[in-house]
Amino acid sequence: MALLDICNVNITYDKKNIVSDVSLSIDEGQILGIVGKSGCGKSTLLKAILNILPDNASLTSGEIFYKGQNLNDLSNKAWQEIRGRQISMIFQNAKTSFCPVRTIGQQLYETIAEHSAYTKKEIFAQAIDLFDKIRLQNGEKILNSYPFELSGGTNQRIAIAIAMLLKPKLLLADEPTSALDVVSQMQVIKEMMKLQQIFQTSIILVSHNINLVSRVANKIAIMQEGKIVEYNFTKQIMHNPQHQFTKELLQSIYHL
Ligand SMILES: Nc1ncnc2c1ncn2[C@@H]1O[C@H](COP(=O)(O)OP(=O)(O)OP(=O)(O)O)[C@@H](O)[C@H]1O
Ligand SMILES: [Mg+2]
Repeated sequence: MALLDICNVNITYDKKNIVSDVSLSIDEGQILGIVGKSGCGKSTLLKAILNILPDNASLTSGEIFYKGQNLNDLSNKAWQEIRGRQISMIFQNAKTSFCPVRTIGQQLYETIAEHSAYTKKEIFAQAIDLFDKIRLQNGEKILNSYPFELSGGTNQRIAIAIAMLLKPKLLLADEPTSALDVVSQMQVIKEMMKLQQIFQTSIILVSHNINLVSRVANKIAIMQEGKIVEYNFTKQIMHNPQHQFTKELLQSIYHL
């Protein structure tokens, strides 16, 4: 059984169709890349998985199954169990997902404590250990910093570390490296993969960058205007693309 099964999902904003008939699945320990241009509906799809679509959006048809359970049927209480601990998300803009007036340590503690029984001391020790693994030095100092005192890249690394500290089964990573320069992007993705191997997390990695995604994903879904136009093993997508849009995406990296 797949860990997550997305079946024929349609999503509208203000009655306008944005995501059309999307079907995807991801197995345990696997990495699924979703690649597409800005505005094609990637973030919308991730928000639908976690049931955090805004009020003007609606999942008009289709089903999403997590471990065989239809997520449409869950109670609020069941969602609290699933969010964070089972499925967690790294948001597209890490800096704005932190509160500006509280330290990283306070926010990290609140997020983790909500989903676990560890003490503050234990949580901070785990955090510093994990920061170290993704080459964030001076963990203690970071915990005492405010988000604005740190670079965009550092904020993104911290967001990745917090998401990983929850040890979710499934991580939804929405452009987790977009605030970084190209060289650091690959570095942070590699670091994320280290954590992925430690925790055996399944990851849905959303990005504009097919080159970066192809380095780590088992399968890639190509999204265009709300539809999945091609979906296959990474090797097939990269070496034998079928859809015109996939070919264009690949040509754009060969030009670079
Ligand atoms: N809250 C909203 N209300 C109305 N329309 C929205 C809302 N959020 C997004 N949209 C529209 O839905 C479409 C898909 O947006 P979405 O954010 O899912 O795209 P995306 O693929 O994540 O883009 P990007 O790569 O820029 O992050 C876009 O046309 C966007 O303008
Ligand atoms: Mg987005």
